[in-house]
Amino acid sequence: PLRSRLTPLALTAVGLMSGLLSSQALAVDSVTLRVGHALNEDHVVARSYRHMADELEQLSDGSMHLRIFPNGQMGSTQDMLGQMQNGALDLVHASASNLESFDDIYSVFNLPYLFPSQADFKKVVFGPIGEEIMQSTREKGFFAIGAYVAGYRSFYASKPIRTPADLEGMKIRVQSSPTTIRMIKLMGGSPTPIAFSEVYSALQQGVVDGAENNVPSYVQTRHAELARYFSEDQHTSVPDFLTIATSTWNRLSDEQQQILQKAVADSEAYQQKLWDKVNQQAREQAKEMGAQFIEVDKDAFRKAVQPLYEEYRQQSGHAELLERIRDAEQDDDQPQG
Ligand code: GCU
Repeated sequence: PLRSRLTPLALTAVGLMSGLLSSQALAVDSVTLRVGHALNEDHVVARSYRHMADELEQLSDGSMHLRIFPNGQMGSTQDMLGQMQNGALDLVHASASNLESFDDIYSVFNLPYLFPSQADFKKVVFGPIGEEIMQSTREKGFFAIGAYVAGYRSFYASKPIRTPADLEGMKIRVQSSPTTIRMIKLMGGSPTPIAFSEVYSALQQGVVDGAENNVPSYVQTRHAELARYFSEDQHTSVPDFLTIATSTWNRLSDEQQQILQKAVADSEAYQQKLWDKVNQQAREQAKEMGAQFIEVDKDAFRKAVQPLYEEYRQQSGHAELLERIRDAEQDDDQPQG
């Protein structure tokens, strides 16, 4: 490749020229990808993106860079997904909840009690069905190149939530997902969509009475200080995705695409390992922060959300996905991620 024969100075010149001429032929040589996320720096996925940035530098001999905009610096995830479609960002971290309003195909991952176990989650998300969903939106200007585990989401508030009746009259922060909004309504609560980085102050100021998330996020955001009761109804397992603008992807050379794909695949493996470790520690940390874990009877919650499945089958354009996920869950021969 041309790059290995150029001195650093020459590379800079190429970089400058490519900026001036914005010629694709020149721009392929050195590339900086801009990635935005709304997570704080401690979040397992945020750490995995830093790992990916290092990996990208190494694999490309310093010619591919990841410039990370963390903490919702570039706005909420919904804002950033819009910016990616306008070309202001190359990559955006988004949970399947955020992606639902950009393409309905992601709504399936927001269905409560979809996966009987975390092994089933991995089988689906990192298997052929997940891959198909991730690739499906290319024509819309973006697609997903990486997927990340995110455990179970449960409710937390300043009082225990043991049954759906306890949610009565409670404002619960949710991600911007129509399926989640409907789920909370069916359970009896009042869903309030708020950007992730604003939930702490929303809890503090009483804008919401509670929220729902996995244990590591509950701890890393320090929400555990404000909402002491973590009630483990484990209603959803919503995967996180790294999305990329189709135009950015097409601008990369074959070699750059392969390098990026390798760095992303390694970040997935890194994240899963880190997740297991952090997930174990998080419960103890939560308790140290004064949190209490409440065991709940999941069946009452499961029952309350049943209409959502019927609605999904009738209204979603992707009802067949649900059947395929159920089949995959029952099939032990499906490839595991
Ligand atoms: C989890 C998830 C994030 C998401 C966040 C949220 O932490 O990993 O991707 O943004 O929940 O509730 O907004």
